[in-house]
Amino acid sequence: MKQLMEAGHLKLAVLASGRGSNFDAIGQAIDKKDLDAEIAVLISDQPNAQALQKATARGIEILHINPRDFSGRGDYEAALVDELKARNIDLVVLAGYMRLVGKVFLSAYQNRILNIHPALLPSFPGLHAQKQALDYGVKISGCTVHIVDQGMDTGPIIMQKAVPVYDTDDEEVLSKRILQEEHQVYWRVLQLIAEGRVWIKDRRIFISNIPGD
Ligand code: GRF
Repeated sequence: MKQLMEAGHLKLAVLASGRGSNFDAIGQAIDKKDLDAEIAVLISDQPNAQALQKATARGIEILHINPRDFSGRGDYEAALVDELKARNIDLVVLAGYMRLVGKVFLSAYQNRILNIHPALLPSFPGLHAQKQALDYGVKISGCTVHIVDQGMDTGPIIMQKAVPVYDTDDEEVLSKRILQEEHQVYWRVLQLIAEGRVWIKDRRIFISNIPGD
Protein backbone atom coordinates (compact mmCIF):
# COMPACT_ATOMS: atom_id res chain seq x y z
CA MET A 1 0.00 0.00 0.00
CA LYS A 2 1.35 3.43 -0.96
CA GLN A 3 0.36 6.81 0.42
CA LEU A 4 -0.86 8.98 -2.43
CA MET A 5 0.78 12.08 -0.93
CA GLU A 6 2.30 13.01 2.38
CA ALA A 7 0.21 15.31 4.56
CA GLY A 8 0.63 19.00 3.88
CA HIS A 9 -0.69 22.13 2.20
CA LEU A 10 -1.44 21.39 -1.45
CA LYS A 11 -0.33 23.48 -4.37
CA LEU A 12 -2.91 22.82 -7.04
CA ALA A 13 -3.27 23.52 -10.73
CA VAL A 14 -6.79 23.31 -12.13
CA LEU A 15 -7.29 22.45 -15.80
CA ALA A 16 -10.65 23.39 -17.26
CA SER A 17 -12.11 23.73 -20.74
CA GLY A 18 -15.47 25.26 -19.89
CA ARG A 19 -17.76 26.69 -17.26
CA GLY A 20 -15.52 26.26 -14.24
CA SER A 21 -18.11 25.65 -11.53
CA ASN A 22 -16.01 22.86 -9.98
CA PHE A 23 -13.02 25.18 -9.99
CA ASP A 24 -15.12 27.78 -8.19
CA ALA A 25 -16.37 25.27 -5.60
CA ILE A 26 -12.79 24.31 -4.80
CA GLY A 27 -11.86 27.99 -4.54
CA GLN A 28 -14.73 28.55 -2.11
CA ALA A 29 -13.64 25.62 0.08
CA ILE A 30 -10.16 27.17 0.22
CA ASP A 31 -11.64 30.58 1.12
CA LYS A 32 -13.62 28.98 3.94
CA LYS A 33 -10.50 27.15 5.12
CA ASP A 34 -12.25 23.82 4.66
CA LEU A 35 -9.45 22.88 2.29
CA ASP A 36 -5.77 23.33 3.08
CA ALA A 37 -4.65 24.18 -0.44
CA GLU A 38 -4.01 26.96 -2.91
CA ILE A 39 -4.80 27.09 -6.59
CA ALA A 40 -1.59 28.39 -8.11
CA VAL A 41 -2.85 28.51 -11.69
CA LEU A 42 -5.90 27.82 -13.83
CA ILE A 43 -4.95 26.43 -17.21
CA SER A 44 -7.33 26.15 -20.13
CA ASP A 45 -7.02 24.74 -23.62
CA GLN A 46 -9.93 26.98 -24.69
CA PRO A 47 -9.40 30.72 -25.09
CA ASN A 48 -12.97 31.60 -24.16
CA ALA A 49 -13.50 29.21 -21.27
CA GLN A 50 -15.66 30.80 -18.57
CA ALA A 51 -13.29 29.20 -16.08
CA LEU A 52 -10.63 31.73 -17.14
CA GLN A 53 -12.88 34.62 -16.12
CA LYS A 54 -13.77 32.90 -12.87
CA ALA A 55 -10.08 32.50 -12.07
CA THR A 56 -9.37 36.13 -12.90
CA ALA A 57 -12.20 37.15 -10.58
CA ARG A 58 -10.52 35.12 -7.84
CA GLY A 59 -7.15 36.71 -8.53
CA ILE A 60 -5.67 33.41 -9.65
CA GLU A 61 -3.11 33.28 -12.44
CA ILE A 62 -4.55 32.07 -15.74
CA LEU A 63 -2.83 30.41 -18.65
CA HIS A 64 -4.26 29.54 -22.03
CA ILE A 65 -2.23 26.84 -23.71
CA ASN A 66 -3.54 26.10 -27.20
CA PRO A 67 -2.91 22.50 -28.28
CA ARG A 68 -3.02 23.69 -31.91
CA ASP A 69 0.17 25.66 -31.36
CA PHE A 70 2.04 22.36 -31.03
CA SER A 71 2.87 19.64 -33.51
CA GLY A 72 1.26 16.90 -31.45
CA ARG A 73 -0.06 15.84 -28.07
CA GLY A 74 3.42 15.04 -26.77
CA ASP A 75 4.72 18.54 -27.44
CA TYR A 76 1.59 20.17 -26.07
CA GLU A 77 1.82 18.13 -22.87
CA ALA A 78 5.53 18.81 -22.51
CA ALA A 79 4.74 22.54 -22.52
CA LEU A 80 1.96 21.97 -19.99
CA VAL A 81 4.26 19.97 -17.72
CA ASP A 82 6.92 22.71 -17.96
CA GLU A 83 4.39 25.25 -16.68
CA LEU A 84 3.29 22.95 -13.86
CA LYS A 85 6.85 22.18 -12.80
CA ALA A 86 7.78 25.86 -12.93
CA ARG A 87 5.11 26.45 -10.28
CA ASN A 88 5.95 23.40 -8.14
CA ILE A 89 2.47 21.98 -8.55
CA ASP A 90 1.78 18.98 -6.27
CA LEU A 91 -1.52 17.87 -7.71
CA VAL A 92 -3.36 18.53 -10.95
CA VAL A 93 -7.14 18.83 -10.79
CA LEU A 94 -9.04 18.24 -14.01
CA ALA A 95 -12.39 20.01 -13.80
CA GLY A 96 -14.22 19.77 -17.09
CA TYR A 97 -10.97 19.42 -19.05
CA MET A 98 -12.15 17.94 -22.31
CA ARG A 99 -9.03 16.06 -23.42
CA LEU A 100 -7.55 12.66 -22.90
CA VAL A 101 -4.32 12.77 -20.96
CA GLY A 102 -1.33 11.23 -22.75
CA LYS A 103 1.94 9.59 -21.76
CA VAL A 104 4.03 12.74 -21.30
CA PHE A 105 1.63 14.31 -18.82
CA LEU A 106 0.85 11.03 -17.03
CA SER A 107 4.45 10.04 -16.49
CA ALA A 108 5.34 13.49 -15.13
CA TYR A 109 2.43 13.43 -12.65
CA GLN A 110 1.85 9.74 -11.97
CA ASN A 111 -1.11 9.30 -9.56
CA ARG A 112 -1.19 13.08 -9.21
CA ILE A 113 -3.83 13.97 -11.74
CA LEU A 114 -7.45 13.77 -10.58
CA ASN A 115 -10.67 14.03 -12.51
CA ILE A 116 -14.36 14.30 -11.71
CA HIS A 117 -16.91 12.54 -13.85
CA PRO A 118 -20.70 13.06 -13.72
CA ALA A 119 -21.69 9.38 -13.43
CA LEU A 120 -21.01 6.40 -11.22
CA LEU A 121 -18.05 4.88 -13.06
CA PRO A 122 -17.47 2.43 -14.63
CA SER A 123 -20.97 3.18 -15.92
CA PHE A 124 -21.28 5.87 -18.57
CA PRO A 125 -17.73 7.06 -19.21
CA GLY A 126 -17.02 9.70 -21.83
CA LEU A 127 -19.19 12.54 -23.04
CA HIS A 128 -22.81 13.25 -22.03
CA ALA A 129 -22.69 10.88 -19.06
CA GLN A 130 -25.92 12.26 -17.60
CA LYS A 131 -27.79 11.69 -20.88
CA GLN A 132 -26.30 8.22 -21.15
CA ALA A 133 -27.60 7.43 -17.66
CA LEU A 134 -31.10 8.74 -18.46
CA ASP A 135 -31.28 6.93 -21.80
CA TYR A 136 -30.18 3.69 -20.14
CA GLY A 137 -32.89 4.08 -17.53
CA VAL A 138 -30.85 3.78 -14.33
CA LYS A 139 -32.56 4.78 -11.09
CA ILE A 140 -29.39 5.98 -9.39
CA SER A 141 -26.54 7.99 -10.85
CA GLY A 142 -23.99 10.36 -9.34
CA CYS A 143 -20.41 11.46 -9.66
CA THR A 144 -16.96 9.93 -9.32
CA VAL A 145 -13.61 11.43 -8.36
CA HIS A 146 -10.80 9.28 -9.71
CA ILE A 147 -7.12 9.23 -10.50
CA VAL A 148 -6.42 9.76 -14.17
CA ASP A 149 -4.78 7.00 -16.15
CA GLN A 150 -4.33 6.49 -19.89
CA GLY A 151 -7.94 5.43 -20.46
CA MET A 152 -11.14 7.42 -20.74
CA ASP A 153 -12.47 7.74 -17.16
CA THR A 154 -10.89 4.41 -16.18
CA GLY A 155 -8.48 5.27 -13.34
CA PRO A 156 -8.69 4.21 -9.67
CA ILE A 157 -11.82 5.53 -7.94
CA ILE A 158 -11.31 7.69 -4.84
CA MET A 159 -14.88 8.66 -3.96
CA GLN A 160 -18.38 8.47 -5.40
CA LYS A 161 -21.64 10.16 -4.47
CA ALA A 162 -24.99 8.82 -5.59
CA VAL A 163 -28.13 10.76 -6.48
CA PRO A 164 -31.59 9.43 -7.37
CA VAL A 165 -32.91 9.62 -10.92
CA TYR A 166 -36.58 10.58 -11.04
CA ASP A 167 -39.14 9.85 -13.76
CA THR A 168 -39.56 13.55 -14.39
CA ASP A 169 -35.83 14.20 -14.89
CA ASP A 170 -34.38 15.48 -18.12
CA GLU A 171 -30.69 15.89 -18.83
CA GLU A 172 -30.59 19.40 -17.38
CA VAL A 173 -32.34 18.55 -14.12
CA LEU A 174 -30.28 15.42 -13.52
CA SER A 175 -27.04 17.26 -14.38
CA LYS A 176 -27.87 19.94 -11.81
CA ARG A 177 -28.54 17.38 -9.09
CA ILE A 178 -25.26 15.64 -9.84
CA LEU A 179 -23.35 18.93 -10.05
CA GLN A 180 -24.41 19.85 -6.51
CA GLU A 181 -22.73 16.67 -5.30
CA GLU A 182 -19.67 17.34 -7.48
CA HIS A 183 -19.22 20.67 -5.75
CA GLN A 184 -19.07 18.94 -2.37
CA VAL A 185 -17.10 15.83 -3.16
CA TYR A 186 -14.12 17.26 -5.08
CA TRP A 187 -12.75 19.51 -2.36
CA ARG A 188 -13.42 16.83 0.28
CA VAL A 189 -11.22 14.41 -1.65
CA LEU A 190 -8.54 17.08 -1.95
CA GLN A 191 -8.67 17.72 1.79
CA LEU A 192 -8.30 13.98 2.51
CA ILE A 193 -5.21 14.02 0.30
CA ALA A 194 -3.89 17.13 2.09
CA GLU A 195 -4.34 15.23 5.37
CA GLY A 196 -2.24 12.36 4.00
CA ARG A 197 -5.14 9.95 4.37
CA VAL A 198 -5.41 8.55 0.86
CA TRP A 199 -3.64 5.28 0.06
CA ILE A 200 -3.44 3.19 -3.08
CA LYS A 201 -2.90 -0.50 -3.68
CA ASP A 202 -3.21 -1.67 -7.28
CA ARG A 203 -6.39 0.06 -8.32
CA ARG A 204 -8.03 0.18 -4.91
CA ILE A 205 -8.02 3.39 -2.88
CA PHE A 206 -8.24 3.38 0.91
CA ILE A 207 -8.96 6.32 3.22
CA SER A 208 -7.24 6.08 6.60
CA ASN A 209 -8.16 7.81 9.84
CA ILE A 210 -6.20 10.90 10.82
CA PRO A 211 -2.98 9.61 12.43
CA GLY A 212 -3.37 9.79 16.21
CA ASP A 213 -7.17 9.83 16.06
C1 GRF B 1 -18.73 18.49 -14.72
O1 GRF B 1 -20.00 17.91 -14.86
C2 GRF B 1 -17.68 17.43 -14.55
O2 GRF B 1 -18.14 16.30 -13.89
C3 GRF B 1 -17.32 17.07 -15.98
O3 GRF B 1 -17.38 18.29 -16.67
C4 GRF B 1 -18.27 19.18 -16.00
C5 GRF B 1 -17.49 20.41 -15.70
O4 GRF B 1 -18.28 21.43 -15.18
N1 GRF B 1 -16.03 16.43 -16.04
P1 GRF B 1 -17.62 22.77 -14.64
O5 GRF B 1 -16.78 23.33 -15.79
O6 GRF B 1 -16.78 22.41 -13.46
O7 GRF B 1 -18.75 23.66 -14.30
